[in-house]
Amino acid sequence: MSKKSIHDFHQMVANGEKIVYLTAYDYLTAKMEEKAGVDMILVGDSLGMVSLGYDTTFPVTMDDMIRHCQAVRRGAPNTFIVGDMPYMSYQASDEQAVANAGRFVKEALVDAIKLEGGGPMIASRIKAIQQAGILAMGHIGLTPQFMGQLGGYKAQGRSAQAAISLVRQAKLLEEAGAFSILVEGVPTAVGKAITERADNIPILGIGAGPYTHGQLLIYADMVGLYDNFVPKFVKKYANAGEVMTNAFKEYAQDVREGKFPLDGEHTYKMQEEEVKEFTA
Ligand code: KIV
Ligand code: NA
Repeated sequence: MSKKSIHDFHQMVANGEKIVYLTAYDYLTAKMEEKAGVDMILVGDSLGMVSLGYDTTFPVTMDDMIRHCQAVRRGAPNTFIVGDMPYMSYQASDEQAVANAGRFVKEALVDAIKLEGGGPMIASRIKAIQQAGILAMGHIGLTPQFMGQLGGYKAQGRSAQAAISLVRQAKLLEEAGAFSILVEGVPTAVGKAITERADNIPILGIGAGPYTHGQLLIYADMVGLYDNFVPKFVKKYANAGEVMTNAFKEYAQDVREGKFPLDGEHTYKMQEEEVKEFTA
């Protein structure tokens, strides 16, 4: 299967086909996701929690993101990859945003970048990045880099006024040139309204209801690898964490009881005469 482009995503929206979007942070996972036929991979700054063990996304650096985007690109050479701009890699100025977006493309060969926020400042960043020839995805609603202002990790747009504000933010980003917008953690009615008002740009959702043009999940949540905190919108498709922990336990027991390795089955052989000479 060849790598999808922005035209394929527009076509999918026009045909009413859902876009399948999933995060990945490393080579092995990316390889499995490409094999599974995922349409778009996000190397999210959720990397901070999932792969690096931080409590938030704030400490994630540009170098962290680039390193992991490179690994994901090697694992999924034929999948559309979005690199997530980490905290303070785009907030300071349009110039900073363009330079860092450029690093994602130049050093990790991603297809697009994503940045959080829906105000005029972010619209300006998106416009600048877009003018530099880079596809920029917006991200509104529950935006973890704004955790302090949002007052914690909770659904957004639950009042009529807040919902209207989110619909306006989506329009603002679309007019600024965002090629797509990700909507996170909002009631179904808000995800639906934003999707219906979008003018030929794919609206992707995570915890934004069933009506968006596509769905995103954090892969570690949906396979049961990350259990520190699992949001309401996650559906668990596997218990990979349990499967792996049990494998580690069995291995530990086998080693301690001398059941692994089994001579002959997991070992290298030497020719008889070599053994004789060696042990003589
Ligand atoms: O970092 C990430 O994985 C994200 C999604 C949770 C939306 O931005
Ligand atoms: Na993110």
